[in-house]
Amino acid sequence: MNNVIVVASGKGGTGKSTVCICLSAALVRQGKKVLLIDCDCGMRGLDIMLDIEQDILFDASDAVCGNCAFGEAVYRSRHIENLYLMAAPFDAENEISPSVFRQLVDSVRENFDFVIIDSPAGIGSGFVTAASPADSALIVTNAEPTSVRGGVKVRKKLDALGVKNIRLVINRFDKKMFRKMGYYEDLDAVIDSAQTRLIAVIPFDLRISVVMQRGAADARGGKAFEVFDRLAGRVQGQNVPLVLKGML
Ligand SMILES: Nc1ncnc2c1ncn2[C@@H]1O[C@H](COP(=O)(O)OP(=O)(O)O)[C@@H](O)[C@H]1O
Ligand SMILES: [Mg+2]
Repeated sequence: MNNVIVVASGKGGTGKSTVCICLSAALVRQGKKVLLIDCDCGMRGLDIMLDIEQDILFDASDAVCGNCAFGEAVYRSRHIENLYLMAAPFDAENEISPSVFRQLVDSVRENFDFVIIDSPAGIGSGFVTAASPADSALIVTNAEPTSVRGGVKVRKKLDALGVKNIRLVINRFDKKMFRKMGYYEDLDAVIDSAQTRLIAVIPFDLRISVVMQRGAADARGGKAFEVFDRLAGRVQGQNVPLVLKGML
């Protein structure tokens, strides 16, 4: 995949922000310098997840309005070296246009190995802005029909926007629950419905959930985060096995 990646989904709550944080932390573990951009305008949350909520003076809209230099809206994560954040505007009315956002990302991308953009759910204007500078996309879905259908809509919109290298992340996967629900015969059926090539299956795991509230510093070590190490490898084109043994 190329190095500006938008993380998107049709429905909210599929795990986009969680995937953004855990993937970024894994890329950093693999020696990469990563900029996370929170594009969930009016609903920002990555600053809390990175434990730098108190540090944020300027957000992306300040950078484009000239209230600060572009670089001044980029903050270093307190706990993870080489992980940086540009916060989303706090107010929804400060949404940025696609062309301006593209310029913003173009001006900072050279300083990073990867730029990961956390998109708002759905295919509205905020999503279009988030996707506009991206050369790759991860669609995050849960293995449920409504979530998958939302993912297909996102896929079509990404195609229309000309984003290449689109991959599917199935998140919050629980083998027992999946069988019990019986929405799909198997994971292949989910992938077929989603019409997108799979890059990762992330298990439902409370250790992953905790990252949302306690911060990215916890996004390392142990089995729970091994899947993100694999995803990070695959994002860089490495031939890493997709899932952990026993997960499916
Ligand atoms: N793999 C996972 N296992 C368990 N809980 C998860 C997982 N991924 C996300 N969650 C939880 O699901 C909720 C929604 O995740 P979030 O990343 O905020 O979704 P989104 O950004 O798509 O709205 C959060 O409570 C988060 O902790
Ligand atoms: Mg989110």
